[in-house]
Amino acid sequence: MIIEEWEEYRYVESGLSTFIAQMADSGLKDMVEHVCNTGGKRIRPVILLLASEVCSGSYSQSLGAALAIEMMHSASLIHDDLLDQGLLRRNLPSAPEKFGPSKALLCGDYLLAKSIEFISPYGETVVRDFGIAGMDMAEGEVLDLRLGEANFGESDYFECIYKKTASLFAISASIGAYTGGADEGLAARFNFFGNSLGTAYQIVDDILEFLDVVEGKESKCISETLPHVYMKCMSKEESVQKSLDAVKLHVNAAKETLNTLKACPARDKLFQITDYMTVDMLEII
Ligand code: IPE
Ligand code: IPE
Ligand code: MG
Repeated sequence: MIIEEWEEYRYVESGLSTFIAQMADSGLKDMVEHVCNTGGKRIRPVILLLASEVCSGSYSQSLGAALAIEMMHSASLIHDDLLDQGLLRRNLPSAPEKFGPSKALLCGDYLLAKSIEFISPYGETVVRDFGIAGMDMAEGEVLDLRLGEANFGESDYFECIYKKTASLFAISASIGAYTGGADEGLAARFNFFGNSLGTAYQIVDDILEFLDVVEGKESKCISETLPHVYMKCMSKEESVQKSLDAVKLHVNAAKETLNTLKACPARDKLFQITDYMTVDMLEII
């Protein structure tokens, strides 16, 4: 699967380019360009557009929300690179490396504020869910700071990754559903799909980091990883296997949820994304 060839991806890319082109040159533009215009899989906004499409919404209706999600994600990566002392992101120097920590911090703040502007037309439920996910992400990163504490266990880990990663995937899917006209019950199913996929993806990212096979990104501090949590009471091989089992469980949950949705080309793409972010990424190990 080549996501760069998908029309949803191109739609997001062009929305981001338009936003950057319209920015005044206030000292932030080059940083925003570096962070928002240098690759990135655009998974969350693409999920949002596809969820909207499954619910019969149009891209033009949903694009602003998709851009808001990608900006919140970009801000979280900058802040994550400040926390983890990230050196390389998407094969390029991280924002703190390239621009220094102070400017990088402010660029993250700017993108968060811009994301609020982009999400604001979408109504109370969407804006509230967006705000809650932003708070979850900060709380998740605070939990992540407990890395190395002897009593950081499996349930702490799952709470941490739900908050720092899965919550944004979850609302990408449910906000897409809402913008497509879904009611609360249907949006909740999308939310569960996003949560399952986001959880599986973070565990995959952790397994790759644990095995030291990550490409294109590098940081001085590493986050707590699931195999590392399991290593406290089992061998390295068993820890990796148990983590792979957890991926499988969440991938199956994501796919079972997709199976309850209307069959259509957009749903097929959500199935493809689920594999792309999980089993396909594990092929290198
Ligand atoms: C990176 O997310 C942060 C994690 C949740 C592991 P992505 O892998 O979606 O980052 P980009 O935007 O594609 O670089
Ligand atoms: C996930 O944490 C980052 C966010 C959700 C912001 P990680 O520290 O595991 O992510 P990478 O590996 O740096 O992308
Ligand atoms: Mg990191």
